[in-house]
Amino acid sequence: ETVSWNPEQAGKGAYDHYMLKEIYEQPQSLRQAIEGRVKPESNELDLEDFPPGTFEDVETIQFVACGTSYHAAKYAVQMCSNRQLSAQAFLASEYATSIPHVDENTLVVGVTQSGETADTLTALRKAQDAGAQTLAVTNVVGSTAARECDDALFIRAGPEIGVAATKTFSSQVVCLALFVEQYYRDRHDGEPSEGSDELLAAIRDLPDVIESVLEQTSVQSVAEAYRDVDSYFFIGRNTGYTVALEGALKFKEITYEHAEGFAAGELKHGPLALVTPSTPIIGIIDGLDSDKTIHSLAEAKTRGAPIIAVTSNPESVRDLADMVLDIPETNLELAGVVANVQLQLLSYHAAAMLSRPIDKPRNLAKSVTVE
Ligand code: G6P
Repeated sequence: ETVSWNPEQAGKGAYDHYMLKEIYEQPQSLRQAIEGRVKPESNELDLEDFPPGTFEDVETIQFVACGTSYHAAKYAVQMCSNRQLSAQAFLASEYATSIPHVDENTLVVGVTQSGETADTLTALRKAQDAGAQTLAVTNVVGSTAARECDDALFIRAGPEIGVAATKTFSSQVVCLALFVEQYYRDRHDGEPSEGSDELLAAIRDLPDVIESVLEQTSVQSVAEAYRDVDSYFFIGRNTGYTVALEGALKFKEITYEHAEGFAAGELKHGPLALVTPSTPIIGIIDGLDSDKTIHSLAEAKTRGAPIIAVTSNPESVRDLADMVLDIPETNLELAGVVANVQLQLLSYHAAAMLSRPIDKPRNLAKSVTVE
């Protein structure tokens, strides 16, 4: 008798899918991302090739990216806005079609896991031709983006095989958070941003916090409870909004069910017309203005929608939420990364129940090298 064996299966180890393995690798990939960059018990930053002062001439940042990387870029823009730093995120394909004004004080940051996405490379090349400085934030040393940009910041997540990006999103956000803090310091004569001690301490704790989320199993019962539903909405605000977009993208990619992400405050300006008892609303609550997000969920509940709250404070949604996905309390700006782990697991378990080909969704590719 012959034993059938293929290296892809061996690579998954005890996990049914690469996606699940990669979700569970996040504590480790995040430790690698911050290793040496954040000093224990200090608020010093050390971004290797980027000594203090590197970004002092940068007056504005334009992030260009696609898919999940675009959501990480939007997350970084929120962190910039929270510090009154000038930054915008663009979908790379849109940016390349009509490039905004740039000059030598503009830093265009390509956020790209693979470093090979054609839309992102085109956007970066156009920015370079127009005279901007460029930086690649990527997982792949030696990738086209890393080679062509003026500089590269590596997220060190290790190889990601599942088409749906998981661990690379959290590593992108954490590396971008460190980058944003350094940008702030460089623009303010080396002064740390307000709350930077807490932010850096929370970044140091993040691998352990995510480990504790990964020990929970409540998410499986949420996936089970709504398995017959075919439309899901995700809402949040500030960094939680970008996580709502990412949660919905992941959900549609691997379950093939309809899912949309909205800014919580925008629900009442249109999407509320779609809300019915058969559209569960997943709310990312922790973060800035969480009371307003709770209010948006309450508006949806009065239209009969089932409410799933992702929060560290279940008490605050006791009369509102039908189900809760618990997360440990953390820094307001990092809570989205933690909530996103629950959303990754929700998508995974929902897709597994529907027997979808999780690691290779139909029509999608890990890296899209055509425009
Ligand atoms: C593809 C993948 C997405 C990914 C996007 C950007 O569409 O399916 O998961 O987010 O490309 O990839 P990049 O390598 O540039 O981050």
